[in-house]
Amino acid sequence: MTRSPRLLLTGASGLVGSNVASTAARRGFDVIAVVGRFDGAIPGAARVERVDLADDAAVRTLALEVFPDAIVNAAAISEVPQCEADPARSHAVNVALPATLAQVAHHVGARFLHLSSEQVFDGTRAPYHPSDLVAPPNLYARQKVESEQLVARFAPETGATIRLPLLGGNSLTGRRSLHERLFMTWAAGKRARLYRDEIRQPCSAENVAEMIVELCERHDAATRGLFHWAGAEPISRAEMGRRVARHFNLPADELVEEAGQADDARPGAPPRQPSLALDCAPLAGLIKTRQESFDAMLERLAVPPGCRDWYFGR
Ligand SMILES: NC(=O)c1ccc[n+]([C@@H]2O[C@H](COP(=O)([O-])OP(=O)(O)OC[C@H]3O[C@@H](n4cnc5c(N)ncnc54)[C@H](OP(=O)(O)O)[C@@H]3O)[C@@H](O)[C@H]2O)c1
Repeated sequence: MTRSPRLLLTGASGLVGSNVASTAARRGFDVIAVVGRFDGAIPGAARVERVDLADDAAVRTLALEVFPDAIVNAAAISEVPQCEADPARSHAVNVALPATLAQVAHHVGARFLHLSSEQVFDGTRAPYHPSDLVAPPNLYARQKVESEQLVARFAPETGATIRLPLLGGNSLTGRRSLHERLFMTWAAGKRARLYRDEIRQPCSAENVAEMIVELCERHDAATRGLFHWAGAEPISRAEMGRRVARHFNLPADELVEEAGQADDARPGAPPRQPSLALDCAPLAGLIKTRQESFDAMLERLAVPPGCRDWYFGR
């Protein structure tokens, strides 16, 4: 009897990781889910391990014990202020961890997928192709660039790094994704002030999970290296907010306050990236998973658990 392929998944409690866990399990992987502080269930996990991923020795011990067929690194400290508040810890998770996982993957011959971000660009020259020069505007983005380089160095024969856009979809906490953050603002009685001149190319974490699991199933040379993945259409933050509101039959004009970046310009404040539209060639042409339209993403969204009283009580 052949055994199921084993997937070691870090960040399994996060927005992307939790969706990878359920998708991979559905497609036949035994998912060994690594969490940090999260203490709930991880749907799809065959086993849950609580590990501080800043502890390099603990990561190596677990990875060698699991001896995985594939490793997906969906762990990160991805809030810029959090990275800047503790640069050593964010370096350990955002840079040292992917480097270690890449080394282990190379050692055991496992497929390795690492996640990076649109944030590596400054937003002045979109749409961006994976080969375009990066211009990381903050510490988080600089750490992502460093991680990309280390993955390419340590896992040249098994690794792929995928830069992701702003993400929608449903998380386990209900507080992580694009629509979940909007709902939290609205449920707190506030309007969302959103820029008409800030362009992103969002897709759902569920769509990202399908792409990642497909890449776990493939080991060919064409799917190694550095790639972009995003939704099918660039769209402004203001338009996103309005379409999310309308999708849930909420009054967009009441809940979304549209603005231009110049309206809020503050001396000395770092500029926000005007457009982070991503050119997803060649990856989009290599795999079966399709880039998702904004409308298709909306269809997947659920009212976040913490906002149900507000939403259904309106
Ligand atoms: N969300 C986006 O819009 C977006 C956009 C572009 C790129 N990305 C990238 O996509 C990847 C996944 O992002 P995400 O939004 O899914 O992240 P997320 O929701 O913030 O989840 C982060 C995960 O990392 C884990 N983690 C962090 N530090 C840890 C530690 N020291 N030990 C153990 N676990 C630790 C967390 O575990 P606990 O919660 O259990 O502690 C959580 O599972 C990241 O590489 C991110 O940079 C995300």
